[in-house]
Parts: sequence; structure tokens; C-alpha cells
Amino acid sequence: MDIDDLATVFHLGEKLFTSQDLPNLYRTWDEFEVVDFFQTDPDLCLVAEVNGRVRGFVLGTTIEKSKSSWKYGYLTWIGVDPSLKNSGVGKRLLKAFIDAIVEDGARILLVDTEANNAEALSFFKKMGFGSPMAHIYLSMNIDSTKRRRKRTGGAP
Ligand SMILES: CC(C)(COP(=O)(O)OP(=O)(O)OC[C@H]1O[C@@H](n2cnc3c(N)ncnc32)[C@H](O)[C@@H]1OP(=O)(O)O)[C@@H](O)C(=O)NCCC(=O)NCCS
Repeated sequence: MDIDDLATVFHLGEKLFTSQDLPNLYRTWDEFEVVDFFQTDPDLCLVAEVNGRVRGFVLGTTIEKSKSSWKYGYLTWIGVDPSLKNSGVGKRLLKAFIDAIVEDGARILLVDTEANNAEALSFFKKMGFGSPMAHIYLSMNIDSTKRRRKRTGGAP
């Protein structure tokens, strides 16, 4: 991925991470996310080109535990243009990402996604990921909590 790909990757993500299908991914996907990954781990930000156009991306990082020698790769975002799904682009991206984190010294690769993202879960399972662990996202409408406190004169 290079600097000129940032906008394309962002807009492709907007197309994929929709509020209707993937609400949590929708909430956390924005232009700063793309810029942050590119700034922090440019070697772990990859794009797939098909006929000279960027049609897929993967963004990730590595995590190193200070008290152990283990280094983990973390694949945070992967996306392929809907018109090219199931044509091997995601697999290519994942393979290139694994090569990059191995080069970086990682020994385990982590991924996560929403429990109802059946498409991604099938893909990850097919690619060899296992040992799933449940994780629950919660949210709170802070705005209405603030308003309620104001009305009742409660402490902040
Ligand atoms: C998940 C995603 C990246 C997969 O990309 P893709 O290019 O369609 O995947 P590939 O064509 O490389 O498929 C690789 C393997 O996974 C399998 N696979 C992919 N999608 C699948 C699906 N929906 N159901 C069953 N198997 C699937 C393929 O059959 C293929 O198996 P094979 O190697 O035996 O042929 C893509 O569907 C996507 O962009 N989803 C929306 C974004 C998203 O949810 N990202 C994950 C969270 S960040």
C-alpha cells in the first residue's frame, strides 16, 4: 500500500462495513483508522490490485508482550471489492500478510470479527483459523445518560 491508495482503501471499506450488516465495524471504520495503520505499520498495510486497480486491502499490526518472547500478528481489517469476492483475492492478501508478519518475527496470528459475519468467519476457517472465543460488544448512549443526570440534578 502506498500513500495514493489511502482514499481508495477508505472508500472500499465504506462500501463493505455498512451500518446495516456490520454495525460495529461500521462504527470503528473511518479515514483516521486507515491513516493510523499506515503511519504505524506501513509494512503490514497491503493492497491487492486487479487490472491495475486496488480491489482489496489488509491492515494489521503486531503485538509484543514485554515479559515473553512471543510476538503476535493482528489482522485488524481485510476487505475485497464485492464484485470480486470468492475469486481468491482475500486468500492472496492473507498469504502476503502472513509472510510480512513472519518476517517481523510473529508466531501466532489473531483475527476477530462480529459473530454474525458469516462470510468472514467462513473465510477465516477455510484459511486455517480455529479456537474461536466468544467476545461481546456492548454500547451505551452516553448522550442520553448525560441528559438524564442533568434532569435529575445528579452528580456527573
Ligand atoms: C472475507 C473476505 C475478505 C474474503 O475475501 P474473498 O476474496 O472473497 O476470499 P477468497 O475468494 O480468497 O476465498 C478464500 C477461501 O475462503 C472461502 N470463502 C470465502 N468467502 C466464503 C463464504 N462467504 N462462504 C464460504 N467460503 C468462503 C473460499 O471458498 C476460498 O476457499 P478455497 O481456498 O477452498 O477456494 C470478503 O468476503 C470480504 O471483503 N468481506 C467483507 C469485509 C469483512 O467482513 N472483513 C472481515 C472483517 S475485517
